[in-house]
This record gives sequence, C-alpha cells and structure tokens, in this order.
Amino acid sequence: EQLRTVVQQMPKAELHIHIEGSLEPELIFALAQRNQVKLAYGSVEELRAAYAFTDLQSFLDIYYAGASVLLQEQDFYDMTAAYLKRAEQDNVRHTEIFFDPQTHTARGVPIKTVIDGIHRACQDSPVSATLILSFLRHLSEEDAFATLEEALPYRDKYMGIGLDSSEVGNPPEKFARVFAKCRELGFHLVAHAGEEGPPAYIETALDVLKVERIDHGVRCLEDAALTGRLARERIALTVCPLSNVKLCVFERMEQHNLLQLLDAGIVATVNSDDPAYFGGYMNANFVATFEALPLGLSHAQRLARNSFSAAFLPAQQKQKFL
Ligand code: HPA
Ligand code: ZN
Repeated sequence: EQLRTVVQQMPKAELHIHIEGSLEPELIFALAQRNQVKLAYGSVEELRAAYAFTDLQSFLDIYYAGASVLLQEQDFYDMTAAYLKRAEQDNVRHTEIFFDPQTHTARGVPIKTVIDGIHRACQDSPVSATLILSFLRHLSEEDAFATLEEALPYRDKYMGIGLDSSEVGNPPEKFARVFAKCRELGFHLVAHAGEEGPPAYIETALDVLKVERIDHGVRCLEDAALTGRLARERIALTVCPLSNVKLCVFERMEQHNLLQLLDAGIVATVNSDDPAYFGGYMNANFVATFEALPLGLSHAQRLARNSFSAAFLPAQQKQKFL
C-alpha cells in the first residue's frame, strides 16, 4: 500500500548496524573458500537453518563463528561494500556503523586490516558512513584498554565508541574507566543497554559511561522515572524491531513497544542491528513493524526525522539529507 511506498522512499539514517552482522551466508561461504577457512556448516542452507535463536547469546555464538572467515583487508571491504549497497537501495542516506575489532584481533588479524578495509568501503560509497568502534563487554576492561591503544593510530577513521555483546552480568559500569578515557579523547559515546538487561543498566550507561544514545533500550518502559528522563533529555534509543523478535526480547512483533516509546515522547529510531541474521535490512524493519503495530504516516515521518536528529552529524549536514 501507500504507507509502504512512503516508508521505503523516505530518506533515513541507520544508527545501529553491526557490520559483522551484515555478513550474508553466501558471502561467508565465498570468503571461507577464498581464505581456506573451514566452516562447521556444509552449505549456505545448513548455515541459514542454524539461525534459530532463543536469546542474545545463542545468536552471538553463531555471529562470532561467521566472522571467522574475515582475514584480509579486502574481506572487510567486501562485507562493508555489500552492506552499503543494500543501505543505498533502502534510501539510507547516512549510517553510523559498529565494528567489533576484538572479534578479529583475537584471531590474529591486525586492527589496521580491520579498520582500513571497512573505512575504505565507506569512502567509496555514495551513502554517508561513519564508524563506531565497539568493545565486547564479555571481555575485560583491560582488554578494551589494549584495543583502544591499538586503534588510536587510526582515530581519524572512527568517531565513536560503543559497547556490545553479552549484556546480562556485564553492566556498563564494568567499563567506567575506559569510557572516561574515550570521552577525554573526544569520541562520541553509545552503549547497548536494556535489550536483555534491566533498566538499571540504561541508567548506569547514562550516569557512569555518559553515553549520548542508548542502543536498544526497549526495557526502559519498566521504569516510569527513567522513561520520563529519556524523553525529557531527548536521549535517543536505536531500536531494532526484527532483532528484538528474533532474539525473543518480544515474542511477536505485535507485542513490540515501539509505539509506546514514541507515545512516551522518546526519540526512538528504527534500525536493522544484524540484518543478515535477523531477516532484513532497514526497510524490512520498517515494514514488519508497520504491519504489526497501529502506526501511521506521521509515525513513519517522525521515525525518519528522529534518525537524523539522533545522528552524530553537524546540524547543517543533517539538513542536506532531509
Ligand atoms: N546486542 C549485543 N551485542 C550485539 C548485538 C546485539 O543486539 N548485535 C551484535 N552484537
Ligand atoms: Zn546491536
């Protein structure tokens, strides 16, 4: 219908995409062959069939296994170029891309290889694209510090710092010192919080890490005071509807709280998270959400506007995309 066409043609910004989560099974197999990496799955179909997740950890195990085929700078380039091409098709005009260096440096891939490959693809794309280096929260703060040090020679190639991986049991405050350092260095700061973890993690992400946006954050509605604060302080949430359903944060899309978040006055945005694993890129997330929830044209326009207002871009540059 008409709403779908409008949603697809709206200029949008994507603020929550893990580049390793854009690696499609076909590309995983092609890179495995190119690099002589042995996979635990015999075919694309077999791998895709394993994408039946029960929670965040069941996904992360397969996501890190998929990333094991990435070895050369060209691999990182090809992965990123493929994502940016899909983003362009969905009328994504600007994207802020997470990458997880520790997933690769732990396998002996130099951080320069990772950053140069991803960054070069961003420069070659017509889509405006910037990078957010994310620390893996299941690893130690010391490991995050070591990663920051290795990445600092390339600091002109990423503008933000994030926090992802297994949330429960790894609260934001575990990374208080390294985030303080990154803040001193002038990076934009974000963190995943309130996806599987409690609202208290959203609060410590804000108060201890001093992040500017919350990734996911959907559990904020369990705390009325926090909900009010997020709205009042205009702290954006980068919501990922298909991800939330695939990882059983909500049992069905009909139960997703995106509309309640918007009605509470929160600057919510729609994003794809790990599109190759969760069944769709940007527009698929919009379409699935709009089919399941009583959202209309004004909500679509609001979500698109929110995506640019929450982007780490100078105001003047945001105007250009609208
Ligand atoms: N949550 C935490 N870590 C992640 C995610 C997510 O949704 N996607 C990739 N790493
Ligand atoms: Zn995420």
